[in-house]
Amino acid sequence: MASYVAAIDQGTTSTRTMIFDHSGQVVASEQREHKQIFPKAGWVEHDAEEIWANTRATAAGALANADLTASEIAAVGITNQRETTLVWDRKTGKPVYNAIVWQDTRTDRIIEELGALGGGQERYRDKTGLPLATYFSGPKIKWILDNVEGARERAEKGDLLFGNMDTWLLWNMTGGVDGGIHVTDPTNASRTLLMDLDTLSWNPDIAADMGIPMSMLPEIRSSSETYATTRERGSLRGVPIAGILGDQQAATFGQACLSVGEAKNTYGTGNFVLLNTGTEKVMSQNGLLTTVCYKLGTKDPVFALEGSIAVTGSLVQWLRDNLKMIDSAAEIEEHARTVDSNGGAYIVPAFSGLFAPYWRSDARGALVGLTRYVNKGHLCRAVLEATAFQSREVIDAMNADSGVPLKSLKVDGGMVVNDLLMQFQADILGVPVIRPKVNETTALGAAYAAGLAVGFWAGEDDIRNNWAEDKRWEPNMDEARREREYRNWKKAVTKTFDWVT
Ligand code: G3P
Repeated sequence: MASYVAAIDQGTTSTRTMIFDHSGQVVASEQREHKQIFPKAGWVEHDAEEIWANTRATAAGALANADLTASEIAAVGITNQRETTLVWDRKTGKPVYNAIVWQDTRTDRIIEELGALGGGQERYRDKTGLPLATYFSGPKIKWILDNVEGARERAEKGDLLFGNMDTWLLWNMTGGVDGGIHVTDPTNASRTLLMDLDTLSWNPDIAADMGIPMSMLPEIRSSSETYATTRERGSLRGVPIAGILGDQQAATFGQACLSVGEAKNTYGTGNFVLLNTGTEKVMSQNGLLTTVCYKLGTKDPVFALEGSIAVTGSLVQWLRDNLKMIDSAAEIEEHARTVDSNGGAYIVPAFSGLFAPYWRSDARGALVGLTRYVNKGHLCRAVLEATAFQSREVIDAMNADSGVPLKSLKVDGGMVVNDLLMQFQADILGVPVIRPKVNETTALGAAYAAGLAVGFWAGEDDIRNNWAEDKRWEPNMDEARREREYRNWKKAVTKTFDWVT
């Protein structure tokens, strides 16, 4: 009997393979970063073939690190950066263009044109749970068909396939041009602006609005079932692929937010707060998304309200790579600790416009409140605080939508090792912030989805039992200061509006 489950986590900055045991502990892991391609201001691309090569290398590496062979892996799950859009040729397996990343804003004109057909930003909200925004996949597909020579014609002939990164990897892992399956799950499909939330199927009217042939779209299956076994001549050959979850939904699953009212916040390149709303689809009145949280086999789908924040950890990277103010991301806390406040400075990182709760593609970043007093420590603090303030904004929206204020917040992701940030997060929210023992919740969630499908884990109780608290930060800021700081932040946000007209 195989004793482990593997997960492939194809994220915005890197691809990882992780192997877990039955208690949800990490047994082995291997990671490769890929290039971030910035051809123009606001454009972000990835080389999908590089990502596929990295996926194979990390799968081989993780198995080798644990001295395991494929026969000891019960199943593999896939989790991925969502919305990132790829179109490739089904006969050659070659992408027709780089993958257009979720952060990319090149579709702003397309968004305006679609809104002008009637309904503006809310045109597809009822059907899809989403506002019209550059973030989502459908308009990115349209951009490729409109701008890559010959692409529309090839798509209409049925030669081109669309996929998010889950679909691209699955197609390749199951044989590619030699019989690869073209499949996705509802968590990924719900981020395209093309899926109907009531039926979990593609909406032909919206596809027609965007000029997208239905033959390009993958089959939508559940998030937890055996789709096929791996066929590529790699180290993971012959293993059932049995789970697909978009990375933020995977983290929600890995955090065992399996009951109505449970929420998590993941601190990655961006931040994503998801609140489980059960089998009820709650439509946001406050700028959040309604999205599929997971669908296990033939069970009813579970929905979530989501607050998506485009730039948090990537602001730290920007400070490191573009401004060269720090040498490593870890160094930021050291500098931030040299001061005990932001010195009046606020940084609003509207690099991809602003996502939730604003959805403004006309916004651009702002650094405000500067005086001669402000030094590097203050700016480092302002960078960290930006993550916490943005999280507070989406959690306020969530509390307003659900009517039940969150009593505590589960957190995970790269930035949760930063004590100063976690304390400030608890302070600015006024509720405890809790980190689990296994912080690799994204990969773990995908492993759970795959492991449940093949009976490696018996049910959701196994997931609940595996979750354990590592550390908790209690709020420790007086109410008056909390509200003053938050008011200043809100004022700073207004300075980012109307930069792109
Ligand atoms: O919606 C974008 C999100 O899925 C990206 O997550 O962890 O790759 O930054 P991450």
